[in-house]
Amino acid sequence: MARRFHIRTYGCQMNVHDSQKLTSLLLHAGLEEGPDDETADVLVINTCSIREKAENRLYSDLGELRAWKQARPGRVIGVGGCVAQQEGDTVLRRFGHLDFVFGTHNLRLVPALVAAAEGGERSARTEESRSLERFDLPRRHPDAGSDTPGRAFVTVMEGCDMFCSFCIVPTTRGREISRPAAGILEEARALVEAGVTELTLLGQTVNAYGRHDVRRGRTAAAGTLPFAELLRELDRIPGLRRLRYTSPHPIFFDDELVRAHGELEHLCPHVHLPAQSGSDRVLERMRRRYTAAQLIERAAALRRARPDLVLTTDLIVGHPGESDADFEATLRLVREVGFVDAYSFKYSPRPGTAAAEAAPDERVEPALAQERLERLQALQRDQTLAYHRSRVGQKTTLHLEGESRRPGQVRGRDPQHRVVNVADAPGRLQAGEYLEVEIVEATPHSLIGALIGATPGGVRPDRLDRTLQILPAS
Ligand code: SAH
Ligand code: SF4
Ligand code: F3S
Repeated sequence: MARRFHIRTYGCQMNVHDSQKLTSLLLHAGLEEGPDDETADVLVINTCSIREKAENRLYSDLGELRAWKQARPGRVIGVGGCVAQQEGDTVLRRFGHLDFVFGTHNLRLVPALVAAAEGGERSARTEESRSLERFDLPRRHPDAGSDTPGRAFVTVMEGCDMFCSFCIVPTTRGREISRPAAGILEEARALVEAGVTELTLLGQTVNAYGRHDVRRGRTAAAGTLPFAELLRELDRIPGLRRLRYTSPHPIFFDDELVRAHGELEHLCPHVHLPAQSGSDRVLERMRRRYTAAQLIERAAALRRARPDLVLTTDLIVGHPGESDADFEATLRLVREVGFVDAYSFKYSPRPGTAAAEAAPDERVEPALAQERLERLQALQRDQTLAYHRSRVGQKTTLHLEGESRRPGQVRGRDPQHRVVNVADAPGRLQAGEYLEVEIVEATPHSLIGALIGATPGGVRPDRLDRTLQILPAS
């Protein structure tokens, strides 16, 4: 019987996608995917180190996995992702039951590392690479990606050269590198041909795509394009219904990209625009390279181009040096831009970053940071609900994701990426289909829709039997 693997994934969509790539690689290598740890022979943990808490999950997981490993001879544990990149063989030395460690540039080595581990060899491979080779993966295995029917990620760039004061990502993901457009378009076309109708382009600063090539005048040699042009090319793929990208950086919203939002038929009216703070003082300390006024101007330009556009954001409270007045400026920014949703975090010092070196008297007390976080989240909750209420009575289209958390209902996303639950959906609906609904109710976290009809062109009829049944709620 084939050996079974299972992957645990923490962190951002880049990690989710890396786990999908790894799934495909391991399937190509002849392993089978298992549903859980229990049935697995090979367990891979794809880690995140964005905040201390995320990193600590790895250590508590590894502690618990001693028993898992002992329960059956021949079991193998591997660790990848951002903590692996950062810590390398330190983790291997610290945890004797860990078999291999692989960095964020070394996904392709994993099948070989599994084989070596099965021969009793322990290894850590975390070399950084500037080579484009890491984008050359074999075609997605037909059994991979079946947990998100109709949707797929496509990596367009990796790494980050921004070095924001608080952020570990430039260390864990290495230097910015953009993938040639031909490979991106080929992968996108193949995915759409295989039944995908919604593509999300990924990159740590996705809209910085190709910028180094433009600046050095070597776009043609590198095979990249300005980001807005890449979107234009993708938007033309026949059969594609939705195009998204994440996460952009505010400074790379040039006029072309703003215009694309008004012009491209399939580009969704949602931009996740990480603001981090509304205080110019803090933004400067964070090395974000924009002011609150500039961010507000770009947000307004996007809305002029696409009036139904929804903006969401990321915010940090308690960055070293953040005063009460700075925090008030963040609240003002949230109101002024009218963010529809936000991920907000308490600042967490990360080893080796500039902000972690701040003088002790600049640190914000944890209790104060907590208080700020709660005030910010209360404001955001009100704004989210107000937006949801403004949608009641409107018609929209859902791309179905699966069963809702609410029993008996199905859940999908509208073009603005809001979650919509539908109570009166008929029985044999499948994830990946599109539904026309009217919004009938607003709740703090989602919208409730009533069915108008199913639209043609969702999951292709010839694929219906192969797509998954409605997913369990996540
Ligand atoms: N590339 C994206 C952010 C990726 S990290 C950007 O430039 O905006 C995702 C989010 O985690 C960040 O937007 C930030 O809000 C948060 N984050 C990053 N480092 C953090 C830290 N040290 N403490 C708290 N939150 C952090
Ligand atoms: Fe981190 Fe800043 Fe790069 Fe975003 S742009 S990944 S916050 S360093
Ligand atoms: Fe975490 Fe690495 Fe993503 S630190 S947020 S998994 S880039």
